[in-house]
Amino acid sequence: MALKNIVVFTGAGISAESGLRTFRDSDGLWEEYDIRDVATPEAWRRNPQLVLQFYNERRRKLLQTQPNPAHYALADLEKYYDVYIVTQNIDDLHERAGSSRVLHLHGELLKVRSERDPSLVYEWREDVHWGDVAEDGAQLRPYVVWFGEPVDAFEEAVPLFESADIAIIVGTSLQVYPAAGLIGYVPPESPIYYIDPRPVISYELQNRQNLHILAEKASTGVPKVVEELRKLA
Ligand code: APR
Repeated sequence: MALKNIVVFTGAGISAESGLRTFRDSDGLWEEYDIRDVATPEAWRRNPQLVLQFYNERRRKLLQTQPNPAHYALADLEKYYDVYIVTQNIDDLHERAGSSRVLHLHGELLKVRSERDPSLVYEWREDVHWGDVAEDGAQLRPYVVWFGEPVDAFEEAVPLFESADIAIIVGTSLQVYPAAGLIGYVPPESPIYYIDPRPVISYELQNRQNLHILAEKASTGVPKVVEELRKLA
């Protein structure tokens, strides 16, 4: 029998126990920074140095962290299912844990691109400075989708949700669209597992049959769900 498809939708909470701050928790990044100052095209036009500094700090921090048991458990699930990770995160912790199919909806922190030509993308592990340019001579900017920019990977993600026999949601407040809207594409009969210490019943989750909520941290909740699914495989 063909392996069943699992789609996994992750947010900042899965990386919290690796030491990366979430956005909307009480100690979250959006408590310290105003989204409009660091994560919009207007911010980039107004004060690009501040934007670069924000992402330089994020990148330095990322390079000091490691995947946690939740990332590793999801990588392990590939032994039993066809697993597709769709993440809102810009870190590379799923890849480092060994997951082979990871789609980043909001970009990647370890890449940069030309501010003029979005197809000129480069791997980048250092700080980015004002004056660092791409092959076309244009300033390098973070390879990140800012508020107000289109989420180009959305179309690629939709069929992964539509063909999911099982969906797993981890560590996201489901506040940011269009990403959170992907949950609405999971077939009604497919079970959804949602692991988050403060789960949010978004519009797409209301009246949902077969919704299993584990109100706990990713490092314990995800391995539990993976173990349960392993037995069912
Ligand atoms: N394990 C699991 N979940 C956790 C943990 C943990 N240890 N700690 C916190 N969480 C949960 C919180 O309860 C919250 O529901 O993680 C979620 C984090 O929510 P947000 O900070 O809103 O992050 P996210 O949902 O990923 O944000 C979506 O918003 O700012 C943008 O582009 C950014 O991709 C991001 C998007």
